[in-house]
Amino acid sequence: MIVLVTGGNRGIGREVCAQLARQGHTVLLTARSERAAKEAAASIDGDVHPLRLDVTAAEDAEEAAREVAARHGRLDALVNNAAITYDTWQRAVTADLDVVREAMETNLYGPWRLTMTLLPLLRESTSPRIVNVSSEGGSLAGMGGGTPAYSLSKTSLNALTRMLAAELRHEDFLVNAVCPGWVATDMGGPGGRPVAEGAASVVWAVTLPAGGPTGGFFRDGRPVPW
Ligand SMILES: NC(=O)c1ccc[n+]([C@@H]2O[C@H](COP(=O)([O-])OP(=O)(O)OC[C@H]3O[C@@H](n4cnc5c(N)ncnc54)[C@H](OP(=O)(O)O)[C@@H]3O)[C@@H](O)[C@H]2O)c1
Repeated sequence: MIVLVTGGNRGIGREVCAQLARQGHTVLLTARSERAAKEAAASIDGDVHPLRLDVTAAEDAEEAAREVAARHGRLDALVNNAAITYDTWQRAVTADLDVVREAMETNLYGPWRLTMTLLPLLRESTSPRIVNVSSEGGSLAGMGGGTPAYSLSKTSLNALTRMLAAELRHEDFLVNAVCPGWVATDMGGPGGRPVAEGAASVVWAVTLPAGGPTGGFFRDGRPVPW
């Protein structure tokens, strides 16, 4: 498979790239810093190619699409992993809406636009997959207070997942949202589970067999309540 991963320079994204490369897949490791993309790609064994891609920049998405088209002519899977603003310091009753808007740019509009930009290349694949890395924090079923920017952005990403899955079902796309669980990364902080386990939860959805689930929300291959 040829797989593009956003935010591939550190955390869960980097480990997703490493696990996919270990399985023999071609990985397009993207990062908003060209240097970070190159360093991370060089640190992973296998067929890993660095690509600069800030998910908030439309021109970056278009340039990435041109590069992928020229080099590979198709894309088999897109992993929308990059995200920001786990705003534990905020509450909905007093939220700074500029912080919320900024989170939405990276966590919702970025992956949405990138998906649309890469759709023609995904359509060239015989088994296209889109994996939106979400969080149970976006689950309406268990929604409480706190982390308003982050939670809202992930709820919205989940809704987008449902829409894309429905609109692309007849083209044999598998589009799913995945929660990696609480993972010990820069975002998750200490105490979470190892990054390899969180990444494996994502890789499961990337490598689903034909006829696998679409329009679902999963952690470790098991459904999570919306
Ligand atoms: N860690 C957890 O406990 C946990 C739990 C549930 C869900 N998740 C989800 O898992 C995913 C990965 O999280 P993580 O824990 O690995 O986070 P992380 O360690 O903070 O890494 C975030 C990654 O996203 C990248 N990024 C941020 N803004 C970007 C942009 N505009 N364009 C491109 N890349 C950008 C970062 O790049 P820079 O290095 O340039 O900043 C970095 O590579 C996220 O979607 C997160 O919401 C994590």
